[in-house]
Amino acid sequence: MQLLDGKVVSTHIKEEIKKQVQELTWAGKRPPHLVAILVGENPASKAYVGSKVKTCAELGFESTLVTYSEDVSEKELLEKIISFNEDKNVDGILVQLPLPKHISEEKVIETIHHSKDVDGFHPVNLGKMMLSLPTFVPATPYGIMLMLQHYGIKTSGMNCVVIGRSNIVGTPMSLLLSRNTEPGNCTVTMCHSRTKNMKELCLEADIIVAAIGKPRFVTADMVKEGAIIIDVGINRIESTETKSGYRLVGDVDFDNVAPKCSYITPVPGGVGLMTICALMKNTLLARGK
Ligand code: GUN
Repeated sequence: MQLLDGKVVSTHIKEEIKKQVQELTWAGKRPPHLVAILVGENPASKAYVGSKVKTCAELGFESTLVTYSEDVSEKELLEKIISFNEDKNVDGILVQLPLPKHISEEKVIETIHHSKDVDGFHPVNLGKMMLSLPTFVPATPYGIMLMLQHYGIKTSGMNCVVIGRSNIVGTPMSLLLSRNTEPGNCTVTMCHSRTKNMKELCLEADIIVAAIGKPRFVTADMVKEGAIIIDVGINRIESTETKSGYRLVGDVDFDNVAPKCSYITPVPGGVGLMTICALMKNTLLARGK
Protein backbone atom coordinates (compact mmCIF):
# COMPACT_ATOMS: atom_id res chain seq x y z
CA MET A 1 0.00 0.00 0.00
CA GLN A 2 1.27 3.44 -0.92
CA LEU A 3 -0.04 6.67 0.57
CA LEU A 4 -1.08 9.33 -1.91
CA ASP A 5 0.50 12.14 0.03
CA GLY A 6 -1.22 15.49 -0.45
CA LYS A 7 1.58 17.25 1.39
CA VAL A 8 4.25 16.03 -1.06
CA VAL A 9 2.21 16.72 -4.20
CA SER A 10 0.85 20.08 -3.08
CA THR A 11 4.33 21.27 -2.04
CA HIS A 12 5.62 20.39 -5.50
CA ILE A 13 2.77 22.17 -7.29
CA LYS A 14 3.01 25.22 -5.02
CA GLU A 15 6.72 25.57 -5.88
CA GLU A 16 5.76 25.68 -9.58
CA ILE A 17 3.09 28.32 -8.90
CA LYS A 18 5.55 30.45 -6.88
CA LYS A 19 7.93 30.50 -9.86
CA GLN A 20 5.15 31.67 -12.16
CA VAL A 21 4.20 34.43 -9.72
CA GLN A 22 7.85 35.55 -9.66
CA GLU A 23 7.85 35.68 -13.46
CA LEU A 24 4.77 37.92 -13.37
CA THR A 25 6.32 40.31 -10.86
CA TRP A 26 9.68 40.36 -12.70
CA ALA A 27 7.73 41.38 -15.80
CA GLY A 28 6.29 44.32 -13.83
CA LYS A 29 2.83 42.78 -13.50
CA ARG A 30 0.83 42.48 -10.32
CA PRO A 31 0.40 39.03 -8.72
CA PRO A 32 -2.93 37.14 -8.80
CA HIS A 33 -5.59 38.49 -6.43
CA LEU A 34 -8.21 36.22 -4.85
CA VAL A 35 -11.26 37.49 -2.97
CA ALA A 36 -12.75 35.04 -0.46
CA ILE A 37 -16.18 35.73 1.03
CA LEU A 38 -17.24 33.97 4.22
CA VAL A 39 -20.77 34.19 5.62
CA GLY A 40 -21.52 33.11 9.19
CA GLU A 41 -19.69 31.12 11.81
CA ASN A 42 -19.52 27.57 10.42
CA PRO A 43 -16.24 26.33 11.96
CA ALA A 44 -15.33 24.12 8.98
CA SER A 45 -15.96 26.96 6.49
CA LYS A 46 -13.88 29.33 8.63
CA ALA A 47 -11.02 26.83 8.66
CA TYR A 48 -11.17 26.26 4.87
CA VAL A 49 -11.24 29.98 4.06
CA GLY A 50 -8.41 30.58 6.54
CA SER A 51 -6.28 27.96 4.73
CA LYS A 52 -7.06 29.51 1.35
CA VAL A 53 -6.02 33.00 2.48
CA LYS A 54 -2.87 31.61 4.14
CA THR A 55 -1.90 29.75 0.99
CA CYS A 56 -2.33 32.92 -1.07
CA ALA A 57 0.25 34.64 1.17
CA GLU A 58 2.61 31.68 0.90
CA LEU A 59 2.51 31.83 -2.90
CA GLY A 60 2.86 35.61 -3.21
CA PHE A 61 -0.80 36.12 -4.25
CA GLU A 62 -2.78 39.05 -2.99
CA SER A 63 -5.95 38.12 -1.12
CA THR A 64 -8.94 39.91 0.36
CA LEU A 65 -11.11 38.24 2.97
CA VAL A 66 -14.63 39.60 3.38
CA THR A 67 -16.64 38.26 6.32
CA TYR A 68 -20.35 38.71 6.94
CA SER A 69 -22.53 37.71 9.84
CA GLU A 70 -25.08 34.93 9.34
CA ASP A 71 -27.91 37.46 8.84
CA VAL A 72 -26.40 39.43 5.92
CA SER A 73 -29.01 39.99 3.24
CA GLU A 74 -28.77 38.31 -0.13
CA LYS A 75 -28.93 41.75 -1.76
CA GLU A 76 -25.90 43.05 0.15
CA LEU A 77 -23.89 39.94 -0.71
CA LEU A 78 -24.79 40.09 -4.41
CA GLU A 79 -23.91 43.81 -4.57
CA LYS A 80 -20.50 43.09 -3.05
CA ILE A 81 -19.88 40.35 -5.63
CA ILE A 82 -20.84 42.75 -8.44
CA SER A 83 -18.36 45.34 -7.13
CA PHE A 84 -15.58 42.70 -7.24
CA ASN A 85 -16.68 41.64 -10.75
CA GLU A 86 -16.04 45.24 -11.83
CA ASP A 87 -12.71 45.59 -10.01
CA LYS A 88 -9.83 45.14 -12.49
CA ASN A 89 -7.46 44.36 -9.61
CA VAL A 90 -9.43 41.25 -8.64
CA ASP A 91 -8.86 38.02 -10.61
CA GLY A 92 -10.78 35.40 -8.64
CA ILE A 93 -13.86 35.48 -6.40
CA LEU A 94 -15.10 32.66 -4.20
CA VAL A 95 -18.00 32.52 -1.79
CA GLN A 96 -17.54 29.69 0.68
CA LEU A 97 -20.45 27.23 0.67
CA PRO A 98 -22.77 26.28 2.30
CA LEU A 99 -24.65 29.57 2.75
CA PRO A 100 -27.47 30.35 5.23
CA LYS A 101 -30.91 29.23 4.00
CA HIS A 102 -32.18 32.74 3.18
CA ILE A 103 -29.45 33.17 0.55
CA SER A 104 -29.76 31.40 -2.80
CA GLU A 105 -26.49 29.60 -3.62
CA GLU A 106 -27.60 29.45 -7.23
CA LYS A 107 -28.00 33.24 -7.43
CA VAL A 108 -24.65 33.79 -5.72
CA ILE A 109 -22.83 31.43 -8.09
CA GLU A 110 -24.47 32.99 -11.16
CA THR A 111 -23.63 36.52 -9.98
CA ILE A 112 -19.88 35.85 -9.89
CA HIS A 113 -18.62 36.68 -13.39
CA HIS A 114 -17.61 33.42 -15.05
CA SER A 115 -14.16 34.83 -15.87
CA LYS A 116 -13.53 35.24 -12.10
CA ASP A 117 -15.27 32.03 -10.95
CA VAL A 118 -12.15 30.19 -9.76
CA ASP A 119 -14.32 27.56 -8.04
CA GLY A 120 -15.61 26.55 -11.48
CA PHE A 121 -19.22 26.42 -10.23
CA HIS A 122 -20.79 28.89 -12.70
CA PRO A 123 -23.03 27.26 -15.35
CA VAL A 124 -20.79 28.68 -18.11
CA ASN A 125 -17.71 27.04 -16.61
CA LEU A 126 -19.46 23.73 -15.84
CA GLY A 127 -20.76 23.75 -19.43
CA LYS A 128 -17.28 24.37 -20.80
CA MET A 129 -15.90 21.58 -18.65
CA MET A 130 -18.53 19.20 -19.98
CA LEU A 131 -17.45 20.08 -23.51
CA SER A 132 -13.74 19.64 -22.61
CA LEU A 133 -13.08 23.31 -23.34
CA PRO A 134 -10.40 25.10 -21.31
CA THR A 135 -11.95 26.53 -18.14
CA PHE A 136 -11.84 26.56 -14.34
CA VAL A 137 -12.36 22.99 -13.17
CA PRO A 138 -13.90 22.61 -9.66
CA ALA A 139 -11.01 22.43 -7.24
CA THR A 140 -11.59 19.08 -5.50
CA PRO A 141 -11.93 16.91 -8.63
CA TYR A 142 -9.17 18.93 -10.31
CA GLY A 143 -6.89 18.35 -7.30
CA ILE A 144 -7.61 14.60 -7.43
CA MET A 145 -6.69 14.50 -11.14
CA LEU A 146 -3.44 16.33 -10.34
CA MET A 147 -2.67 13.80 -7.63
CA LEU A 148 -3.28 10.77 -9.88
CA GLN A 149 -1.11 12.46 -12.53
CA HIS A 150 1.70 13.15 -10.07
CA TYR A 151 1.91 9.49 -9.05
CA GLY A 152 1.75 8.37 -12.70
CA ILE A 153 -1.27 6.17 -12.02
CA LYS A 154 -2.55 4.75 -15.30
CA THR A 155 -6.33 4.74 -14.98
CA SER A 156 -7.24 3.88 -18.56
CA GLY A 157 -9.85 1.11 -18.72
CA MET A 158 -10.33 0.98 -14.96
CA ASN A 159 -13.72 0.57 -13.30
CA CYS A 160 -14.33 3.57 -11.10
CA VAL A 161 -17.04 4.07 -8.51
CA VAL A 162 -17.73 7.65 -7.43
CA ILE A 163 -19.83 7.77 -4.26
CA GLY A 164 -21.73 11.07 -4.16
CA ARG A 165 -23.34 13.20 -6.87
CA SER A 166 -22.82 16.77 -5.64
CA ASN A 167 -22.27 19.60 -8.13
CA ILE A 168 -18.98 20.36 -6.40
CA VAL A 169 -17.37 16.90 -6.32
CA GLY A 170 -19.25 13.77 -7.43
CA THR A 171 -20.69 14.97 -10.72
CA PRO A 172 -17.58 16.78 -12.09
CA MET A 173 -15.35 13.94 -10.80
CA SER A 174 -17.38 11.34 -12.72
CA LEU A 175 -17.11 13.41 -15.87
CA LEU A 176 -13.36 14.00 -15.59
CA LEU A 177 -12.54 10.34 -14.94
CA SER A 178 -14.63 9.16 -17.88
CA ARG A 179 -13.02 11.54 -20.40
CA ASN A 180 -10.47 10.53 -23.04
CA THR A 181 -7.50 11.85 -21.05
CA GLU A 182 -4.74 10.46 -18.87
CA PRO A 183 -5.67 10.18 -16.04
CA GLY A 184 -9.16 9.37 -17.29
CA ASN A 185 -10.62 6.78 -19.66
CA CYS A 186 -12.37 5.03 -16.75
CA THR A 187 -15.72 3.30 -16.83
CA VAL A 188 -17.50 5.34 -14.18
CA THR A 189 -20.42 4.40 -11.97
CA MET A 190 -21.88 7.22 -9.92
CA CYS A 191 -23.47 6.00 -6.68
CA HIS A 192 -25.69 7.95 -4.28
CA SER A 193 -28.17 7.61 -1.43
CA ARG A 194 -30.66 5.63 -3.60
CA THR A 195 -28.13 3.14 -4.97
CA LYS A 196 -29.29 -0.36 -4.07
CA ASN A 197 -26.21 -2.51 -4.52
CA MET A 198 -23.46 -0.18 -3.32
CA LYS A 199 -21.30 -2.95 -1.85
CA GLU A 200 -21.40 -5.11 -5.00
CA LEU A 201 -20.55 -2.12 -7.21
CA CYS A 202 -17.67 -1.07 -4.96
CA LEU A 203 -16.28 -4.61 -4.92
CA GLU A 204 -15.94 -4.38 -8.74
CA ALA A 205 -14.12 -1.04 -8.56
CA ASP A 206 -10.45 -0.49 -9.37
CA ILE A 207 -10.85 3.07 -8.06
CA ILE A 208 -13.28 4.35 -5.42
CA VAL A 209 -13.77 8.06 -4.90
CA ALA A 210 -15.68 8.54 -1.64
CA ALA A 211 -17.43 11.92 -1.49
CA ILE A 212 -20.56 11.26 0.52
CA GLY A 213 -19.82 13.15 3.74
CA LYS A 214 -20.38 10.19 6.08
CA PRO A 215 -17.59 9.26 8.47
CA ARG A 216 -15.93 5.89 7.64
CA PHE A 217 -18.72 4.97 5.19
CA VAL A 218 -16.47 2.83 2.98
CA THR A 219 -15.52 -0.25 4.96
CA ALA A 220 -13.00 -3.01 4.20
CA ASP A 221 -15.70 -5.49 3.07
CA MET A 222 -16.61 -3.07 0.23
CA VAL A 223 -13.09 -2.88 -1.19
CA LYS A 224 -11.37 -5.17 -3.69
CA GLU A 225 -7.71 -6.18 -3.06
CA GLY A 226 -5.41 -3.71 -4.82
CA ALA A 227 -8.01 -0.97 -5.31
CA ILE A 228 -7.12 2.73 -5.38
CA ILE A 229 -8.99 4.71 -2.72
CA ILE A 230 -9.54 8.46 -2.91
CA ASP A 231 -11.13 9.85 0.25
CA VAL A 232 -12.77 13.27 -0.18
CA GLY A 233 -14.49 13.27 3.22
CA ILE A 234 -13.50 15.71 5.94
CA ASN A 235 -15.81 14.86 8.83
CA ARG A 236 -15.46 16.30 12.32
CA ILE A 237 -16.09 13.72 15.01
CA GLU A 238 -15.95 14.26 18.75
CA SER A 239 -12.76 13.15 20.42
CA THR A 240 -11.53 13.22 23.99
CA GLU A 241 -7.95 12.90 22.72
CA THR A 242 -7.61 16.39 21.21
CA LYS A 243 -7.63 19.85 22.76
CA SER A 244 -10.27 21.08 20.32
CA GLY A 245 -12.61 18.25 21.31
CA TYR A 246 -12.89 16.92 17.76
CA ARG A 247 -10.81 15.20 15.13
CA LEU A 248 -11.07 14.73 11.38
CA VAL A 249 -11.95 11.43 9.74
CA GLY A 250 -12.63 10.67 6.11
CA ASP A 251 -15.48 8.87 4.34
CA VAL A 252 -13.29 5.74 4.38
CA ASP A 253 -12.50 3.48 7.34
CA PHE A 254 -8.79 4.09 6.75
CA ASP A 255 -7.31 1.69 9.34
CA ASN A 256 -9.13 -1.35 7.97
CA VAL A 257 -9.24 -0.38 4.28
CA ALA A 258 -5.60 0.73 3.85
CA PRO A 259 -4.07 -2.79 4.11
CA LYS A 260 -6.18 -3.92 1.11
CA CYS A 261 -5.34 -1.05 -1.26
CA SER A 262 -2.64 -0.31 -3.77
CA TYR A 263 -2.95 3.43 -3.08
CA ILE A 264 -4.97 5.46 -0.57
CA THR A 265 -5.28 9.13 0.40
CA PRO A 266 -5.06 9.94 4.12
CA VAL A 267 -7.39 12.33 5.97
CA PRO A 268 -6.12 14.87 6.79
CA GLY A 269 -3.15 15.30 4.46
CA GLY A 270 -4.69 14.00 1.25
CA VAL A 271 -7.38 15.46 -1.00
CA GLY A 272 -7.94 18.58 1.17
CA LEU A 273 -4.46 19.90 0.45
CA MET A 274 -4.90 19.18 -3.26
CA THR A 275 -8.17 21.14 -3.33
CA ILE A 276 -6.44 24.30 -2.14
CA CYS A 277 -3.62 23.77 -4.62
CA ALA A 278 -6.09 23.40 -7.50
CA LEU A 279 -7.88 26.58 -6.42
CA MET A 280 -4.54 28.41 -6.54
CA LYS A 281 -3.88 27.06 -10.05
CA ASN A 282 -7.29 28.35 -11.11
CA THR A 283 -6.54 31.77 -9.59
CA LEU A 284 -3.24 31.95 -11.47
CA LEU A 285 -5.12 31.02 -14.65
CA ALA A 286 -7.66 33.79 -13.95
CA ARG A 287 -4.78 36.28 -13.65
CA GLY A 288 -3.61 35.29 -17.13
CA LYS A 289 -7.01 35.81 -18.74
N1 GUN B 1 -17.56 24.27 0.24
C1 GUN B 1 -17.06 23.03 0.16
N2 GUN B 1 -16.16 22.94 -0.84
C2 GUN B 1 -16.10 24.16 -1.40
C3 GUN B 1 -15.35 24.71 -2.48
O1 GUN B 1 -14.55 24.04 -3.15
N3 GUN B 1 -15.57 26.02 -2.76
C4 GUN B 1 -16.44 26.78 -2.06
N4 GUN B 1 -16.60 28.05 -2.43
N5 GUN B 1 -17.17 26.30 -1.05
C5 GUN B 1 -16.98 25.00 -0.73
